[in-house]
Amino acid sequence: MCGIVGYTGDKRAAPFLLGGLEKLEYRGYDSAGVALSEEGNFQLLRRAGRVTQLKTPLEKLNSAAVTGIAHTRWATHGPPTEENAHPHLSEKKQWVVVHNGIIENAEELRRELADVKFKSETDTEVIPHLLEKQGEINPVEALVNTQKRLEGAWALGILCAAMPDTLFCACKGSPLLVGVGAGGTYLASDYAAFDEDVTTTYRLCDGEIGVLTKNTVCFYNCDGDIIDKSGEKFSWKEQRIDKGDYEHFMRSEIDQQPLALRQTLAQFFTDGAFSLSCELPEKPRKIWLIACGSAYHACVTGKYVIEELAKIPCETAVASEFRYCYPLIGDSDLAVFVSQSGETADTLAAVREANANGAVSVGIVNVPGSAIARECRIILPTKAGTEVAVATTKAYCAQLAVLYSLALHYVTDSKQKNAFQQALRRLPEDVQQVLDTTEKPAMDMAREIYEAEHAYFIGRNLDFSTVLEGSLKLKEISYLHSEAYPAGELKHGTISLVEEGTPVIALACCERLLPKTLANIREVMARGAAVFAVTTLDDIEDARGVITIRKTHPLVMPSLAVVPLQLLSYHVARLRGCDIDKPRNLAKSVTVE
Ligand code: G6P
Repeated sequence: MCGIVGYTGDKRAAPFLLGGLEKLEYRGYDSAGVALSEEGNFQLLRRAGRVTQLKTPLEKLNSAAVTGIAHTRWATHGPPTEENAHPHLSEKKQWVVVHNGIIENAEELRRELADVKFKSETDTEVIPHLLEKQGEINPVEALVNTQKRLEGAWALGILCAAMPDTLFCACKGSPLLVGVGAGGTYLASDYAAFDEDVTTTYRLCDGEIGVLTKNTVCFYNCDGDIIDKSGEKFSWKEQRIDKGDYEHFMRSEIDQQPLALRQTLAQFFTDGAFSLSCELPEKPRKIWLIACGSAYHACVTGKYVIEELAKIPCETAVASEFRYCYPLIGDSDLAVFVSQSGETADTLAAVREANANGAVSVGIVNVPGSAIARECRIILPTKAGTEVAVATTKAYCAQLAVLYSLALHYVTDSKQKNAFQQALRRLPEDVQQVLDTTEKPAMDMAREIYEAEHAYFIGRNLDFSTVLEGSLKLKEISYLHSEAYPAGELKHGTISLVEEGTPVIALACCERLLPKTLANIREVMARGAAVFAVTTLDDIEDARGVITIRKTHPLVMPSLAVVPLQLLSYHVARLRGCDIDKPRNLAKSVTVE
């Protein structure tokens, strides 16, 4: 949450800062701001709302500054106003700071800084004031002392008037990258923000400090001692993100699912032979599946599949609950953490909890080098490529593929193993076929439901775990209120909300439970619901709309069934005129708890 960028070098800073913020906007889009340094005078430009609000005023400013920092915000402390927008300045204008994270002891520090006139309601503003209170000491020393006073998580980009063309940075718990190129040095929350000049990157570890001038980078540990860090080669072409001819990233990412599956599964198949090639415990007592948001829904599917196929008991947990529930987890357990970004604060805290309890932690992560990828003992990567739309599609689909592969690793029955393995290898083509055949019917269905106020999703077993995701997709991007229920559960209360014409989206793909699901469909129809079904059946009597999808191995059906639900959400959101790639109040990377 929140994106930060910085630059110092030979070029004008403003174009890189603006372009970098645009690429980091997925991290939050409540407000944006820039600070440019001209011989130690800081010029600040901040706006509530999207990064685009900065464009014209920044162009008008036409600053020749070659050093600057910038920020795009997802509001935590204080509403998304201009006053609360970063950067934040110290009273004597000696320090200016952008921050991603949360300073948990901000209230206590504000009380301590009683003589300071705060200009914002943010937790961040304590940082420039604390730095200024250090007096005229070496900026690195001031930063060492200030970091020691902070509790919580931070990635900081800092300018100091005493050293006008130097960029300072530090982090703990939030990601921060330094980039080096022929034209200068760069700072960013994510590789995506760097431009083609960058050839080498460094990832800051907790407590580390970076000092960047136009042609040098120097790193210090949390005590201010110089440290050696090795850089990594960076190829801008590989990081470039482009939605091609698509109107939205989300729609292009839906279409990239077969490729995401191919790339993800390819890691586990060598010359047709399946192997996870990692040191997983032979027979864990229990497998925990822990995540947030859509990644949690992937875990729910994972539990059904692993338990049915590998006969190992599984427990799913939402990461924000797991970390505070005194989980009975120990060294004979496998703890699997699923995360696209690898940054989600609650998931990361849950990793630490599991590691501290001796469990073998496994990360299913899309961003290599991310915090969760670094802290898990074993990594099973998803290879979905960079995902830009806030609502995940291709990363979710790749997460399912890795969870299926984990189940396959633990199957003992060779007949079952062969059948499942074959289904996995066919999965990219099967998903492609569903994509090719369901766009039009999903659009037709969207036209029928987009004006509704509420919708309910029902399904049993794997159909239930899939409707959890279908319902989340619909509400998060179209703002049409929807809830997902196990099909047999709706009648225990929620059915009282079903009236004439209420859309009920039923998933009927789980073959062995079809008669039960069909009975539940009839129950809601009898109360006037307009039933829209996604099913392997050719038709469902009296349904208002039916999307038929092909059959595959029952345990990988969720990967096929979710596709029409993604397309349905996309088209409903489009018809409702929503900002599909950047839904209100959301951010792709949730680095606060
Ligand atoms: C946010 C995103 C979701 C994602 C969730 C977990 O809410 O909008 O798409 O599922 O975070 O994120 P992670 O990066 O851990 O998968």
